[in-house]
Amino acid sequence: MNKSKQIKAMFFNDSNKLQDYATHSMFRYFGKLPPTLVRRILDENNIHKNKKVLELMCGSGTTLVECNIRGTSAVGVDVNPLSVLVSKVKNTYIPLNELLAAQQSIENEIHIIGEEQNDYFRPTTKNLDYWFTEPIQNDLSSLKYLIDNTERFINNEAYVQDIKDLFLVTFASIIRKVSNASPKTGRIFRMPEDNTCNVYETYFKKLHTNIYSIQDLPHVNPIQLLQADARDTGIDDQKFDLIINHPPYFALYKYSSDVMRFELEWMNFNRRQIAKNEIEDGFKTTKEELLDVYIEDMKNVFVEAKRLLNKEGKLCVVVSDSTLREKQLPVVSKLIEAASEVGLNLDEHFLREVAFTQASYHKSANPNIKTNEDHLMYFTGK
Ligand SMILES: C[S@@+](CC[C@H](N)C(=O)[O-])C[C@H]1O[C@@H](n2cnc3c(N)ncnc32)[C@H](O)[C@@H]1O
Repeated sequence: MNKSKQIKAMFFNDSNKLQDYATHSMFRYFGKLPPTLVRRILDENNIHKNKKVLELMCGSGTTLVECNIRGTSAVGVDVNPLSVLVSKVKNTYIPLNELLAAQQSIENEIHIIGEEQNDYFRPTTKNLDYWFTEPIQNDLSSLKYLIDNTERFINNEAYVQDIKDLFLVTFASIIRKVSNASPKTGRIFRMPEDNTCNVYETYFKKLHTNIYSIQDLPHVNPIQLLQADARDTGIDDQKFDLIINHPPYFALYKYSSDVMRFELEWMNFNRRQIAKNEIEDGFKTTKEELLDVYIEDMKNVFVEAKRLLNKEGKLCVVVSDSTLREKQLPVVSKLIEAASEVGLNLDEHFLREVAFTQASYHKSANPNIKTNEDHLMYFTGK
């Protein structure tokens, strides 16, 4: 049984402004870790060039970008192909001249095709017209047509795939902004008015910002990505000095069917297929029993983490308790217990009070229950 550790307060209140560097703001990923917090975790664990880091459930690749910047080899694993693509693009340097020429080409092409490809693509989104106005659907369709055919107007073979991936991630990154859903919350809520923004202007502005953010990356990156289940990564030739795991918080988000639903549909990814491999997240549930399924799934993530840890390595888990109606659920203590059952011992336990966490968003009906705390825990396999 895991002995409970003294919980230490962690002082961390870096502003949002401080988080906007390198490629960290390329894609708005709800539930992303603050980059400067990851930087601090890496610093405090003495992660330098010769160490190896794994992030199980890498999301938008915050940890990977931080490892890339310091020249540390890192592997990122996520079940969601869009997460993997975003993480890849956020870590891939492409020279500025290539990118500026590529932007010029796609801007020219959009004028050449005019309205020809307005009906090239429509996603399977339920109530599509409710979520996207027709002019916006038309412009997204034309953009998608060009991106799918990047090879026709980018001739430099050495960069064409990386440029296409950047075009795609930029496309995904504007979907929420041009929809009728609020861009402010992870969950999807309709705004009162139809969105009247200009899709091309929004896209090319974002592409321009992304192009310059890429220039902050090292030219060669030591980052590897795997689209896989964190419970069974298939990695069998490497061990890691630090494994970071920041799972979906229970009863909060389902990445494939809510938070990233529109992006996945416009990218033509199969949401239902992705959902099959996601851990139980208790999304839109009122069933407390599902917490046991979540803990069991996380236990299997811990088994995989233990298998992949170096002898002296550490597993860092960032998570929070959740609420279900009137009740606060003991997610964190159950996770500590599950880790212990697979031979991972709690080494250090920090509590970070934040104005807003993923979990505080899921407000309890009981005003006395607060979940504006993130737990950061270190486990070792010794
Ligand atoms: C809270 S997010 C991680 C965010 C990340 N730390 C960042 O900074 O962007 C949780 C991630 O877990 C992923 N996930 C859910 N179930 C998974 C599974 N079985 N295997 C791998 N990844 C999974 C989701 O796709 C999501 O990207």
